[in-house]
Amino acid sequence: MFRNKNILIGITGGIAAYKILELIRLYKKNNANVKVIMTENATNFVTPLTIRTLSNNPVYTKQFEVDNLFPEHISLGSWADIFVIAPASANTIGKIANGICDNLLTSIACAFSKQIIVAPAMNCEMWNNQFVQDNINKLQKAGYEILSPEAGFLACGTSGVGRLCAIEKICAATYEHLKYKNQKLKNKKIVITAGGTRENLDPVRYLGNHSSGKMGVALANEAYNLGADVILINTFNHKAEYKTIDVSSALEMKSAVEAEKQDADCIIMAAAVADFRIKNQNEQKIKKDDNDETLTIELIKNPDILYEISQSKNENQIIVGFCAESENLIENAKTKINKKQCDYLIANDISRKDIGFSSDENEVYILDKKLNIKKIDKAQKSVIAEKILEYIYGEN
Ligand code: PMT
Repeated sequence: MFRNKNILIGITGGIAAYKILELIRLYKKNNANVKVIMTENATNFVTPLTIRTLSNNPVYTKQFEVDNLFPEHISLGSWADIFVIAPASANTIGKIANGICDNLLTSIACAFSKQIIVAPAMNCEMWNNQFVQDNINKLQKAGYEILSPEAGFLACGTSGVGRLCAIEKICAATYEHLKYKNQKLKNKKIVITAGGTRENLDPVRYLGNHSSGKMGVALANEAYNLGADVILINTFNHKAEYKTIDVSSALEMKSAVEAEKQDADCIIMAAAVADFRIKNQNEQKIKKDDNDETLTIELIKNPDILYEISQSKNENQIIVGFCAESENLIENAKTKINKKQCDYLIANDISRKDIGFSSDENEVYILDKKLNIKKIDKAQKSVIAEKILEYIYGEN
């Protein structure tokens, strides 16, 4: 979500400062680099040591550190992609809105040219104070995003509007601002398949597999964040900001891929497609006959979608397949890329419980037609997706 993104947090003096410990963890869990500055008042509520331990970075509290060659308000500002001030006290909001720079946090805010998010938290009477509201309006007009406090029980013993908004909301707002920064796949149409196909036996039963669709969704999300026009053909009714098409069987998936393939720049087949379907699908539920100890089902081969689109691809199209193997991963992947004739093949070991099917993480090898192999170490599927797209689009 935040890979390669630098998030600067400013903590001011308020009891909600303790909630920022969780915010730091959330950003870090989503692969952000986090640095934190604290006002002197903030250090009364949480210790710099705690923040340093969670963020894995030094914590900045003083405006003038004698050891530093460059002033922090310039260097930290250049480092950060976004500045999130939370909790923001009435005092700090007032200073920033009126151009006062009497500590490191307010100086950075004044010198910061990128997006600033402000999440106020204070007593409800303070929040309703006319001067505070005027200052909030000023910041809003200047392009700051204000995440208004929420109503509820306050630490001062009263109830009203003043609580820091949910940290998930701060995280989501941060993401909204950062996601459009790198648009390197803008104007590219990328078709991705995800999930396991279902081959109906009768109206009740089907042949399926363990694919959850997480790998395909991770690729779709990442491509979308990079500005691509994404079409996700999936078997689990996924809904997203980009176009999704619901399918069930391999034949339905093939029709959907064919309908979208003509003007696609890239097609990525992350779905686990059944190699066979039921030869004679039953219109009615198959009845159990008490005399039968076995049931024989005849299967017929499904078309190989990946092979067919690789055969008929346009000159500049990139076709990417996945390769799910439970043994001899690399050897089988080499054979498979030759057979399927796609441009890239992403091989993963589906015998492992910690990666592959259904898990949140994966570890893959990317093969190209010349049989060059690049390993991507075990990581969240979102990170794997990011690295696959980076590789395909030339940052390997
Ligand atoms: O969905 P998750 O739970 O996140 O799990 C991810 C995954 C393990 C499903 C994914 O990483 C993966 O490996 N997908 C491919 C699964 C598969 O069908 O592999 P395969 O080796 O059997 O097929 C090779 C390629 O041919 C695949 O790109 C597949 O989509 C394609 N194929 C297969 C059969 C067929 N009839 N038509 C096809 O196009």
